[in-house]
Amino acid sequence: MAESMQGLKRTARCAEFTVEDIGKTVTVMGWVQKTRNKGGLVFTDVRDRSGIIQVIFEEEICGSEVFAKAGSLHNEYCIAVVGDVRSRGTDANTNIATGAIEIEAKELRILSESATLPFQIEDETNTREELRLKYRYLDLRRGPLQKNIALRSKLAMSVRNYMAENGFLEIETPTFIKSTPEGARDYLVPSRVHQGEFYALPQSPQLLKQLLMVSGFDRYFQLARCYRDEDLRADRQPEFTQIDMELSFADVDTVIAVNEGLIKRMFKDVLNVDVELPIERMTWQTAMDVYGSDKPDLRFGLPIQDVSDAVRDTEFAVFKSALEAGGAVRAIRVPGQGHMPRKKIDALVEVAKLFGGKGLAYLCVNAADDGSHKCSFAKFMTPEQLDRIIEAVGAEKGDLIVFAADKLNIVRNVLGNVRLELGKSLDLIDKSAWRFVWVTEFPLLEWSEEENRFTAMHHPFTAPMDEDWQYIDSDPGRVRAKAYDIVLNGTEIGGGSVRIHQADIQEKMLEVLGFTPERANEQFGFLLEAFKYGVPPHAGLAYGLDRVAMWMAGAESIRDVMAFPKLKDASDAMMGAPAKVDEQQLKDLAICIDIPEEE
Ligand code: AMO
Ligand code: AMP
Repeated sequence: MAESMQGLKRTARCAEFTVEDIGKTVTVMGWVQKTRNKGGLVFTDVRDRSGIIQVIFEEEICGSEVFAKAGSLHNEYCIAVVGDVRSRGTDANTNIATGAIEIEAKELRILSESATLPFQIEDETNTREELRLKYRYLDLRRGPLQKNIALRSKLAMSVRNYMAENGFLEIETPTFIKSTPEGARDYLVPSRVHQGEFYALPQSPQLLKQLLMVSGFDRYFQLARCYRDEDLRADRQPEFTQIDMELSFADVDTVIAVNEGLIKRMFKDVLNVDVELPIERMTWQTAMDVYGSDKPDLRFGLPIQDVSDAVRDTEFAVFKSALEAGGAVRAIRVPGQGHMPRKKIDALVEVAKLFGGKGLAYLCVNAADDGSHKCSFAKFMTPEQLDRIIEAVGAEKGDLIVFAADKLNIVRNVLGNVRLELGKSLDLIDKSAWRFVWVTEFPLLEWSEEENRFTAMHHPFTAPMDEDWQYIDSDPGRVRAKAYDIVLNGTEIGGGSVRIHQADIQEKMLEVLGFTPERANEQFGFLLEAFKYGVPPHAGLAYGLDRVAMWMAGAESIRDVMAFPKLKDASDAMMGAPAKVDEQQLKDLAICIDIPEEE
């Protein structure tokens, strides 16, 4: 039975009624959250996106026909109820917002019934995610997801308001474009009209927004859909949304100032949190040396310290060989953890190995029963040498010190991850903190072992720092970029840079990156051509909107703030995409499928 709603008009959402409405006749519409029959009375919780209100059917008031209908209700039936708001008196339920009132029903319409549900619609669920995503429209009825999606909308609104108030124009850019060099694999769209040719979906609107600067729009923004074919993680989806912006006549400080205003506004509007400005700035070099990461989590301490000098003259082969090979020996002092059980220390060693280390040496200061040090490399050291290390890191009795020795990038990565593990396992992270930091002065280039050449750390249009450009031939790795990332609680939520606007620097940059003039022309000749006609200096930044929403919602996964996300293997469990297509469609596109047989 599915009835019409003709003649009925919803008065308000379920949880929008208050004690002020007592005595009024109202109409609510929503889903049956639960219903129970208690001899002569039917209690039904009706839910919509605002929350829940209790409806009570009493045979004497609603009549036997309505009462019988109420008795036939099941979970997730979609219903309309007309009735009077009344006080629940001493029966008030303090757990729900509308707990002091209920609706005494006079009329009931079953707008549509529900089949047996694949899972119950409950806030807390242990239904596996694959099933939830297959029935995402049901999953989205759950309270936490309803909240997250509403939060995301509020965030998008807040961004739009701020950007508009600050002179930005919202401009859409196409999704069928030519490949943009953001470093991931492209998603391709075959052309029917131009058989054998493909559009690429944008990894970001990078080149288009730069062209908008050439066009004179001077402040652009967009909530832009981006597509990247890369391995998915908890904070990565194949399609995601950027808060994307570009500004003309702007330097690093201008971009940072505009964005600090935006961050303050977003957090105020959405969470009523006051972000303190200015946000700390840290160079990439410091972030890597002290936190072992270009996205440092500053919610806790445990800085990495260099002990290379303190261990230089020891005979411990692990330290010695690392230093002789031009590497480093670095350490983390963990105050008060000298009595950490062996099992926990072994777990840290495993973390070190997982991130490319060969081991993790440790020293527990005066932690043995006889007051001596417990140390995994004591036999290679004199007591004086151990004391020198302890002094170098400022350790005290009862502290734990862990060490990594290797090539510098491995030492950073190992200790950065050991630090994060310590922060988690020792419960050092203040979960209520919002720790922002700008990471600045990234290297312009990074050496790729795989490709045996320099690649752009950000992208090929990022401007070098003026004072470093002189080293581009003699020592390219030394050149820093006018690039910045905004990091929140240890995740990169956004990044950007000042762009190259001088033809000669751009040409040189492309040459260093190994582009022949022909290839550069083929890939982004349109940009190089555009830059011949009066290009303003410009700079920009893009946030992962989903990542910001994820933090704001306190969600574990980026999927929890997206209406219809993909599974880890990039498939859509609900629609069944990707999927095979008709022979005819392939023919139109002149595409042959040739899947290699598995070996
Ligand atoms: P970048 O590649 O750093 O810069 O991307 C900007 C931000 O987008 C988010 N992000 C993602 N979010 C979810 N899933 C993904 N797969 C994913 N990949 C990236 C991150 C990241 O910080 N055009 C430049 C910006 C610029 O220079 O202005 C760009 O796209 O939060
Ligand atoms: P070994 O001599 O292999 O028994 O190692 C002695 C100690 O050094 C152990 O605690 C190892 O975990 C540690 N170790 C081994 N390789 C490294 C390394 N590259 N950096 C730091 N510690 C290491």
